[in-house]
Amino acid sequence: MDEQRMIVSDRLNEVEEVIEKSLRPSNLAQYIGQEPLKEQLEIYIKAAKAREEALDHVLLFGPPGLGKTTMAFVIANELGVNLRQTSGPAIEKPGDLVAVLNELEAGDVLFIDEIHRLPKIAEELLYSAMEDFYVDILVGQGVAAHPMHFSLPPFTLIGATTRAGMLSEPLRARFGIMSHMEYYKVEELQEIVDRSAEIFNVEIESNGAFEIARRSRGTPRIANRLLKRVRDFSQVKSDGVIRKKQADEALTMLCVDSCGLDIVDRKLMKALIEMYNGGPVGIGTLAVNVSEDAETIEDMYEPYLIQIGFIRRTMRGREATAAAYTHFGYTVDKSL
Ligand code: ADE
Repeated sequence: MDEQRMIVSDRLNEVEEVIEKSLRPSNLAQYIGQEPLKEQLEIYIKAAKAREEALDHVLLFGPPGLGKTTMAFVIANELGVNLRQTSGPAIEKPGDLVAVLNELEAGDVLFIDEIHRLPKIAEELLYSAMEDFYVDILVGQGVAAHPMHFSLPPFTLIGATTRAGMLSEPLRARFGIMSHMEYYKVEELQEIVDRSAEIFNVEIESNGAFEIARRSRGTPRIANRLLKRVRDFSQVKSDGVIRKKQADEALTMLCVDSCGLDIVDRKLMKALIEMYNGGPVGIGTLAVNVSEDAETIEDMYEPYLIQIGFIRRTMRGREATAAAYTHFGYTVDKSL
């Protein structure tokens, strides 16, 4: 990505973050979806509070936009503690991590987003911090370098990652609670859209909320983003009320198809079907064909295409399924 595009996309991310914050549920009761995880957390949080101990460390993994950060804030709020937030790429050297750890009070939550991108030396510091609440670091340079021991208060680390497979075994082993965040059901997304519409003070009919939910790729962040665009559309082109018609027209204008697939999804599937005869083909080759990096395709696009049964992952690469051929209007090859 060139620098200008990166600045623009960073700014967009910041704006989106502000919106997301305003829509964020603050406790488990307000949090829609992820029922099994909520049920477990309710028990573990109650138990930790009753024992006056820090909650065990939590690892949340799964595709972006499913509410990992939101859940971390909800957990801290339910525990009645502060949340300190950082991310793997923001920690460049061990000192950066020590600075964050140093601010923790007993029972606090430390949230590390994209924990799989933490530099190895910082990750290694976490082992003793998580297990026995201390870190040993070298301070000073050359002959003046000497080890220092820092005791830490008991705290809860909440790590979020799109890829649990990229975490080292020693780090993964130190999380007592691990959960995969699942794509949301349409009914859950519809509830989220209704809740957000209420916060935005916009009138929405249930068929409008359903249409947005159905085309949001199982992802609350996308549902909220589409809601905002449909709201603009309804306000300018109609009477401001969101019904199925406005939702459909606005989403079609945004090139979001009936399954919620966007331009990149379509380019990806088209390349797989037309250029590689439905596969199998490697993810790197596909990524080059749609001008995205392989990591973005693997984290953001492929999981949903697999979930809806359009892509199959095989030992030899990715394959398009018969359902994908049908959806995109290709004749189904009998051998599929
Ligand atoms: N807004 C975004 N995600 C949400 C969720 N899971 N529950 C309630 N509101 C949300």
